[in-house]
Amino acid sequence: MVSLVNNISSPSRNVIIMSAAFCVYLQRSWSRSGMDKSKGLVEQLQKCGVVRSKKVAEVLESVDRALFVPEGTPPYIDSPMSIGFNVTISAPHMHAMCLELLENNLQPGMRALDIGSGTGFLTACFALMVGSDGHAVGVEHIPELVARSIKNIETSAAAPLLKEGSLKVHVGDGRLGWPEFAPYDAIHVGAAAPEIPPALIEQLKPGGRLVIPVGNKFQDLQVIDKNSDGSLSVRSETSVRYVPLTSRESQLNGS
Ligand SMILES: C[S@@+](CC[C@H](N)C(=O)[O-])C[C@H]1O[C@@H](n2cnc3c(N)ncnc32)[C@H](O)[C@@H]1O
Repeated sequence: MVSLVNNISSPSRNVIIMSAAFCVYLQRSWSRSGMDKSKGLVEQLQKCGVVRSKKVAEVLESVDRALFVPEGTPPYIDSPMSIGFNVTISAPHMHAMCLELLENNLQPGMRALDIGSGTGFLTACFALMVGSDGHAVGVEHIPELVARSIKNIETSAAAPLLKEGSLKVHVGDGRLGWPEFAPYDAIHVGAAAPEIPPALIEQLKPGGRLVIPVGNKFQDLQVIDKNSDGSLSVRSETSVRYVPLTSRESQLNGS
């Protein structure tokens, strides 16, 4: 629950910190009961106050995390898990938090960009939310992870959207975004950038929202809204701990 620890100046953050302690309690009792299903995980995230929207709950229930974690990895524990290549699938509460933050920008017909798409879990959730009239684009710089994520998605509830082309996953350097479908209503970055990549701001639609962890050792999950006049409103949602948004070489060398 590292990602939920934060300074206590904001009342909403206090609620999250209390929820985090409550979550740890719930998670322990829940693990003991052996209720290892997507629905159970979502119910716990709802009890913790991380999942509030019905739509987010539905999408998290329909995309089974077990299809996205490596074999032998416990899928329904609220923790990041290694997926190889020095990176992780994010913890369920972080997936849930980002979906909640982006929900209004993931309406049917909208365009979503998922940078550092890793396992493809969140890209699949975005695709289900924007539907076949929208676009969900994942960008990941490790080709093997892209290939694996496509296989994961093919077994998931988002498979029809991949087949018809409203969901796509590309190999690329996410710091450059993906201009082909820009501008985007929603951009999510699943790795921490030392500073916000300018291309992502350029590719954000007026009225669009970017959610990105920013920082090196200490990171904030920043929420950037592009106003209709092109100006930006920036706020920090919470402190987080993500792997870096970096070059492929640095990631594979672990530097
Ligand atoms: C926390 S992990 C995966 C997050 C993903 N949301 C998930 O839960 O599966 C972050 C991902 O960002 C990728 N990444 C790091 N730097 C990148 C870059 N410059 N361009 C594209 N992907 C990058 C990593 O390879 C990794 O798969």
